[in-house]
Amino acid sequence: MTLEQKLAQMSQYGTSYLMATAKDDVTGPARALGLNGEQVAAVGSTLGSAQAADVIAMQQNHLANDPNKIPLLFMRDVIHGYRTIYPIPLGMGATWDEGLVYDCCRMAAKEAAVSGIQVNFSPMVDLVRDCRWGRNMESTGEDPWYNSRMAAAMVKGYQGDDDLQGKYDIAACVKHFAAYGAAESGRDYNTTDMSEHTLREYYLPAYRAAVDAGVEMVMTSFNALNGIPCAGNSRLAADILRNEWGFDGVVISDWNSFHEMVNHGYAANDRDAAEKAIQAVTDIEMMSTCYLRYMRALIEEGKVSEEQIDQAVLRILRLKEKLGMFENPLRATSVEEEAKYCLCEEHRALARRAAEQAAVLLKNDGVLPLSENIGSIAVIGPFAACGMNGWWSCQGKTDESVSVAAGLRAALPQATITVAAGCTDGLHDPLDPAMLEAALDMARASESVVLCLGEQEGWSGEGNSRADVGLPAAQKELLRRVAAVNPRTVVLLFNGRPLALGDVIDAAPAFFTMWQPGTEGGSAAANLLLGRVNFSGHLTMSFPYHVGQAPIYYNSMRTGRPKPGDDSTMGYVSRYVDCPNAPLFPFGYGLSYTDFTYGRPTLSATQIKRGESLTLSLTVKNTGKMAGSTVVQLYIHDPVASLVRPVREMRDYARVTLGAGEEKEVQFKIDEAMLAFYTAEGRYEAEPGCFRVWAAPDAASGEALSFTLL
Ligand code: NOJ
Repeated sequence: MTLEQKLAQMSQYGTSYLMATAKDDVTGPARALGLNGEQVAAVGSTLGSAQAADVIAMQQNHLANDPNKIPLLFMRDVIHGYRTIYPIPLGMGATWDEGLVYDCCRMAAKEAAVSGIQVNFSPMVDLVRDCRWGRNMESTGEDPWYNSRMAAAMVKGYQGDDDLQGKYDIAACVKHFAAYGAAESGRDYNTTDMSEHTLREYYLPAYRAAVDAGVEMVMTSFNALNGIPCAGNSRLAADILRNEWGFDGVVISDWNSFHEMVNHGYAANDRDAAEKAIQAVTDIEMMSTCYLRYMRALIEEGKVSEEQIDQAVLRILRLKEKLGMFENPLRATSVEEEAKYCLCEEHRALARRAAEQAAVLLKNDGVLPLSENIGSIAVIGPFAACGMNGWWSCQGKTDESVSVAAGLRAALPQATITVAAGCTDGLHDPLDPAMLEAALDMARASESVVLCLGEQEGWSGEGNSRADVGLPAAQKELLRRVAAVNPRTVVLLFNGRPLALGDVIDAAPAFFTMWQPGTEGGSAAANLLLGRVNFSGHLTMSFPYHVGQAPIYYNSMRTGRPKPGDDSTMGYVSRYVDCPNAPLFPFGYGLSYTDFTYGRPTLSATQIKRGESLTLSLTVKNTGKMAGSTVVQLYIHDPVASLVRPVREMRDYARVTLGAGEEKEVQFKIDEAMLAFYTAEGRYEAEPGCFRVWAAPDAASGEALSFTLL
């Protein structure tokens, strides 16, 4: 390969850039980027293709033009389903079911693979603590240990159990390395700044878990971390990722982020950016041309060696080889199988189960479940009659998704289901009096109301942060007015982040969130509303009272002046004078239609030596009248340590399903590794002394037991 061809292999452009590849016959977008026909013909990968037929044509065209006949790799963001859409990752996190997450990723991989995708820009495992950030929806939440488990489940789901050898396996790309979720003020792309301890202890573990699970690719992030943009951050990508963790797969930049090092003020120009990116061992440049334009000069000046380029190209070619692209450049791409599998009944059924398990019941003063014999329901709200897929819904189409109104109509063919928007779906739209009156009439005339409120799809996702994460004013007013005329009003929320519900939670007797549930959202909603399926979802991000509490997360550090209790009015402690410290709904929280009693836990020992373990046991009983699942969460705390420790940290969980009246003993093994943290000396170790431990249904409840590490 010539140097130019190697650099083209290290470059990635959208499919529309690569359509015409004859010399000097490039498309408009490619011309605008300054690419010539030879470069386009040798490009290594593309992003954003949609359908099998296009991929087949493009690959054939590419192979006809590329002098080296190296197949193109097709990459895409398949974040929560390809055509059949399951809930956003924040909702999948709320399922507390790694097996289900794995199954959903297998389904997404199959639909993507037959449609021509070989590499998926997922999982996103950025730790999230700030409800304002729009990309919370793409994460599984605020806990590093839990995110690590989810990261591994997703990587295995996409890549399969046989090292990419399965027909429908696709390579996974973990992102965004690193600490992208810590954007200051919750504003996307904003800078991040944190101590080594915070980085190692909270932000890095989930990326590491993906690497340990065998992820093939890592994407660097847009943000600067402690002053250095991650697109050219050698400490992160070269020292930690490659040298310390031993990652030898492909590193790709995020979209145009080489060039954005110039905007950051870290690179003088694109040539400087190219040098910084290659020194950070980044193999593929996405959507900019720094490598193609400047690498030759950098090599001639002796700033970069050709060996560095060869190593990067080899990593890319090795991935193509592992995927079997040289023998079969189309891999699983098939127009017939695309038609057969995308949106098939089996996939819809899995998406429905996922949407049911992801939903979290936040409040229920007895109005739920609705009776199977109900005669009339008014489905009101700006999201009553539309499908809700979410900002990253790939090939999913809203009109292929079941709305709440459609779901209820299918579930209750004899009942009268009426529908009214009540208000428009804008952020700042005023309440329209005629729309309101029509909704109120319907609410008065119906036995119950299902009020569908929340966020439009475009209020979360990339670039979509919010400064106020409450319901818009018109929706709040609609809620108060509807609940006033019909006390049997249930609020069904669609949201891509935790919402601040402090000012509306008393306005209606029941609230639940379905996040952005995907293709089968409305059918799942009907099953949950009618109690045909029990709620079992639990939050993985705290829901604040008020946006001013952000960032808010359960594993926060102790302070020197803790507030003595939630009701305390004591001054000169760490508090707000106008809002509780605690969230409205804590991490781990979620109600059910049945009741669970957690027995008092016991410990098998009160002290352990290094290398030993002990067992915590408790009995969990379903004391209600319906089968259901609860999530027993194991938390620890190190009360005296060489560094201040968080008030609680989750270390394990068990999802327990019990029939009415049934009970089960749950056991957790606690070992030394669970007590370790990243010390000021840069070591992971457990320090001797007392530890506290809880087994609880959320991060704010339970009774602590103690034991000692000798
Ligand atoms: C930008 C996003 O930050 C990233 O998550 C995504 O994978 C790329 N664009 C490609 O679409």
